[in-house]
Amino acid sequence: MLQVPVRDQSQASTKAVILVGGPSRGTRFRPLSLDVPKPLFEVAGHPIIHHCLKAVTKVPDVREVILVGYYDESVFRDFIKDASKEYPQLRIVYLREYTALGTAGGLYHFRDAILKGKPERLLVLNADVCCSFPLGEMMKLFEEKDAEAVILGTRVSNETATNFGCIVSDSHTKRVLHYVEKPESHISNLINCGVYLFATECIFPAIRSAIKRRTTRPRLLSYPSSDNLESSFIATGDDEDAEKSEVLRLEQDILSDLADSNRFFVHETKDFWRQIKTAGSAVPANALYLQKAFQAESSELIAPSATIVPPVYIHPTASVDPTAKLGPNVSIGPRVVIGAGARVKDSIVLEDAEIRHDACVMHSIIGWSSRVGAWARVEGTPIPVGSHSTSIVKQGIKVQSITILGKECGVGDEVRVQNCVCLPYKELKRDVANEVIM
Ligand code: GTP
Repeated sequence: MLQVPVRDQSQASTKAVILVGGPSRGTRFRPLSLDVPKPLFEVAGHPIIHHCLKAVTKVPDVREVILVGYYDESVFRDFIKDASKEYPQLRIVYLREYTALGTAGGLYHFRDAILKGKPERLLVLNADVCCSFPLGEMMKLFEEKDAEAVILGTRVSNETATNFGCIVSDSHTKRVLHYVEKPESHISNLINCGVYLFATECIFPAIRSAIKRRTTRPRLLSYPSSDNLESSFIATGDDEDAEKSEVLRLEQDILSDLADSNRFFVHETKDFWRQIKTAGSAVPANALYLQKAFQAESSELIAPSATIVPPVYIHPTASVDPTAKLGPNVSIGPRVVIGAGARVKDSIVLEDAEIRHDACVMHSIIGWSSRVGAWARVEGTPIPVGSHSTSIVKQGIKVQSITILGKECGVGDEVRVQNCVCLPYKELKRDVANEVIM
């Protein structure tokens, strides 16, 4: 049975969990997730989860960050090794779910490890969001209101709100009155950003109540705990049902219950926020993180000049001809070669890629070791400021607004590629537009 932790002020009192998912998630991130797990994909010169981790390091009393997911153990080994060197004050570990347990199921499964050291608060971050992570402000609200939970919220247009988890709140007290995940009709344009702060003594009992409710339903298996893991696999003769029954999601199964308490609050951020779901959404995420770094006068960025329109990140091992013009919102990866007179704008160019002389790359992602020929044009369509979608309708067809070349693709000299997604290892020898090239 779960022990309610005894508060001990001498211990570090906040732990953080970053939910990284697993290989069966991130399918909308293809073709890029075919070659790298989405949380490790680099935007603005760092893996997506590095941006989450960096935000967590700014919260003074966090000493431990737990990545929870169901990727193989080896996937995060190097990342954790490097991050532990960069942030020696932090203990960073990866805990692997034996199957996808859902955003709440993973937390509950590893509750003993999370509650070790008796943390009072638990920060939970979805790995697939890009934002300024105002964790300090969330902590402040948490303390002021003596909250059980604080959620980060942001306003979106009324038309798009129902694609997200929607929060109805009291604008004066900031109390969450209702929470509905992807409601059928409009209830609010304040949406869930996937960043939470929970009182540990409340979140685990809340998950346990949700599990109890489920076990009273017929045909569903009891939820596995860390100590009855094996017995939870007792056969029902239907593995798929068994798996589904173990999935428990914060969004669908827990947050609406928390709203029934009087101590669930929302911190509304006015700063940037985007989801990183589709591969194309890495481009706006890259732009937003680069702009943030530029505002913070980060030394990682290249100084503005006649050929550098900030913000631009160039890996130190990349070779960029001085006559090439780069920016704004460009990240150039390790060992990339950019030829004379090339133009790159609003794009990510990944490791070992080459852009030959006088080529133009805009609103695109150039995959690892891909080649863009001389005078070629690889371009997408700009995503309107504030838009949360990376698709557009062209000639009656829904296409990706960002052009993506997978790993080791080739674009011939003078070839034009527009609004295409190109799977790895393809050679494009003629002009293409609005296509998925398989
Ligand atoms: P939709 O947004 O509803 O389309 O679903 P999604 O699968 O794209 O993302 P979801 O909102 O379910 O996931 C939010 C975050 O939690 C992402 O960073 C996922 O990688 C992560 N996540 C999702 N499911 C699991 C899970 O079963 N276990 C763990 N550890 N993380 C998960």
